[in-house]
Amino acid sequence: MKIAVVGAGYVGLVTGVCLADFGHEVVCIDKDEGRIAALRRGEVPIFEPGLVELVKSNVEGGRLSFASALGPAVAAADVVFIAVGTPSRRGDGHADLTHVHAAAREIAGAVSGFTVVATKSTAPVGTGDEVARIIGTVNPGADVAVVSNPEFLREGAAIEDFKRPDRIVIGTDDDRARQVMTEVYRPLYLNQAPLLFTDRRTAELTKYAANAFLAMKITFINEIADLCEATGANVQEVARGIGLDNRIGAKFLHAGPGYGGSCFPKDTTALVKIGQDFGSPMRLVETTIAINDQRKRAMARKVIAACGGDVRGRTIGVLGLTFKPNTDDMREAPSLDIIRGLQDRGARIVAFDPQGMTAASALLEDVRFAENAYDVAVGADAVVLITEWNEFRSLDLARLKTLMAAPLFVDLRNVYRPHEMRRQGFNYVSIGRSGAGQGDLASDAAE
Ligand code: UDX
Repeated sequence: MKIAVVGAGYVGLVTGVCLADFGHEVVCIDKDEGRIAALRRGEVPIFEPGLVELVKSNVEGGRLSFASALGPAVAAADVVFIAVGTPSRRGDGHADLTHVHAAAREIAGAVSGFTVVATKSTAPVGTGDEVARIIGTVNPGADVAVVSNPEFLREGAAIEDFKRPDRIVIGTDDDRARQVMTEVYRPLYLNQAPLLFTDRRTAELTKYAANAFLAMKITFINEIADLCEATGANVQEVARGIGLDNRIGAKFLHAGPGYGGSCFPKDTTALVKIGQDFGSPMRLVETTIAINDQRKRAMARKVIAACGGDVRGRTIGVLGLTFKPNTDDMREAPSLDIIRGLQDRGARIVAFDPQGMTAASALLEDVRFAENAYDVAVGADAVVLITEWNEFRSLDLARLKTLMAAPLFVDLRNVYRPHEMRRQGFNYVSIGRSGAGQGDLASDAAE
């Protein structure tokens, strides 16, 4: 199949590269000429494990190319994916559809022959209708079927998620479009990934419902963690105890400092707006957003409490800044709220992150960025682990401790085992495990 992907950002690039790897002929298009020039040189503008190699092999294989002009690739395409950004609109939290609508207008002027236009961008219910309306207005003769085909990719595992998805959701009422989309994903049903065909609005809503449900699940276990601390129970064991129930499932039950990233905060807010627009309020999601926002700030208070209630003039070392490991993405990262909260109370911050320091330096003031994890510990009154990068899972704890001014370790991801940390001489504070029930069940209780 010939495929054009409009928008060479995170979703567009991963989609384009993986579809090329399936054997399709793919052109990734972006207005940003600098980005396209860089991609042609083999430079990938985002950090995603495996992406550079996959770009290289597919470009060399002649299946993948890049363009800044949309016309020729769209005219030749069987399928055009819209994968442009849908950020939160300033002021009202709605998804900003400016880029989607602009892409629809341009695509309308360029299509030739029957073409499927599939939206990958996360966009509110009714966006597909609007894209179809725009295309029909700009080019009344266009033979186009507009499909909603949401992505469910996790940053840091996007290629794996694309190639081994739990499901693929395709929203369309058009039979020709169904056939085309079946061909696009044919390599996947060799892996037995279910293709769920539904109508367009249902597909659009499915994406929001999935992300909001996961955000609620995390928020639920975070509240249970607080209750564990209050009652002396152990949240990892609760997570294992409930996660083994297939109706609940073990994943996304890691208590932590609150969810961040480019999707959950934006999509939960947009879902609340959709609910308001349609007069069908999303009260659980509204509450989830409020709890999560409060939680990020509460984590700074937790660190201050661990320091004895005062951090003025103290040096706090921070391990991990990105919203999760294996990404350089700082969007809505809990570290931002935590570090600002500590600075407001007079703490000095030294931080290290394997990938996030460039982005973080543009967002945070007065932070000293360290060379490595041990550099963070030098003279520190406390070390706070915020993002669970693998390299922080196997620290030389004895070495870390000798570098610190005081052996206080605040582990906001429950990476370490309380009894082990205490044995090593740390004053150890973690999430939902501070009570008597300190049975150190394997930390693989949930993913
Ligand atoms: C998410 C969805 O997983 C993906 O399907 C969707 O398409 C985009 O949004 P992503 O934002 O990349 O992906 O990261 P994810 O791994 O889902 O983590 C999101 C946030 O939740 C992170 O801040 C993470 O630290 C947090 N989280 C996740 C927890 O605190 N506990 C968990 O158990 C899982």
